[in-house]
Amino acid sequence: KSDLKTRLNHEEDEALTRDMQDLYSRLLPSAESEQRRTRFIDKLDRLLRGNWPTSSITVNVFGSTGNNLGTLDSDVDICITTDCREMERVCSIAELLAQNGMERVVCVSSAKVPIVKVWDPELQVACDINVNNPLALENTDLVRTYVDIDSRVRPLAMIIKYWAKRRILNDAALGGTLSSYTWICLALNFLQTRDPPILPTLQQQPKLEPKILAGVNVSFDRNIESYKDFGSRNKSSLGELLFHFFRYYGHELDFEQNVVSVRLGRILSKVEKQWHLLQDNRLCVEEPFNLSRNLANTADDTSMRGIHMELRRAFELIGEAKLEDCCEQFEYPK
Ligand code: CTP
Ligand code: MG
Repeated sequence: KSDLKTRLNHEEDEALTRDMQDLYSRLLPSAESEQRRTRFIDKLDRLLRGNWPTSSITVNVFGSTGNNLGTLDSDVDICITTDCREMERVCSIAELLAQNGMERVVCVSSAKVPIVKVWDPELQVACDINVNNPLALENTDLVRTYVDIDSRVRPLAMIIKYWAKRRILNDAALGGTLSSYTWICLALNFLQTRDPPILPTLQQQPKLEPKILAGVNVSFDRNIESYKDFGSRNKSSLGELLFHFFRYYGHELDFEQNVVSVRLGRILSKVEKQWHLLQDNRLCVEEPFNLSRNLANTADDTSMRGIHMELRRAFELIGEAKLEDCCEQFEYPK
């Protein structure tokens, strides 16, 4: 461990930071892709209202469409809030959409949060829909607030998401790895724990009125203005931050003992969290609002070892300022 590289030299830092800025600008959604997403949301709204004219229906976006971390080809995550019981059994929505030109319609009604997945061939948009899941809207707002506080958060988090996607490390449902949302929480907690910190801890500010939703406290400080200069004492470049992100999760943080907590803005011990008997030697990530949820529990032992190896691989390559190699598309051996 002692011979691990501790910092990038000036040239490496400059080259890496420049490459990150280039990549970031390529990942940003275009005006055209934003427009297709907006038109899709309008279309969905019309279809639902047409079919259930007497119900109250609101179509909300969450996930990367709402937290500003979406890329050119991100899907749209939609949460419908409604008093209509029939819609809560999401298959009725699936049927409606299938009859109106949507393709690849899949209804996952047995999941903890039932969803419908569709592809709109006209607007070329993929979408996940759930009904009455208000916590997802709140944690999307929380992420968005963090993204808005310091200008380094958005490029850094988008590049980490991109890296995870290219290395096939962000498929919680099928691949048994971590969701984009879990990677985002890892990035946020990393930024909270820098010295000096780049992000504050929005859920721990004094004088917060508790706001209880679905049985959990979702209150956090939304006053972005008061944090405008929060991270300015930390001068780290994007390159340095990416280098230390991989160093931190690849080599420094002990997965066996610790829990990543965006809520507290620090690392919690598993004993403190009472997760030491449950979660043997794997990384744990606390959901910021729903405290009993470990966001990393989608990865089993083998998969977690793979993720750890990938973090170390990334650290090696970023240490040589090789962003492109670091994000090389993973191919399964033939
Ligand atoms: N979410 C959640 N709990 C999880 C996973 C996701 O509450 N274990 C909610 C969060 O509100 C998150 C949203 O679902 O913002 C979408 O999750 P995900 O698709 O993982 O993240 P995105 O930001 O949408 O990333 P991508 O661009 O890859 O779709
Ligand atoms: Mg999404």
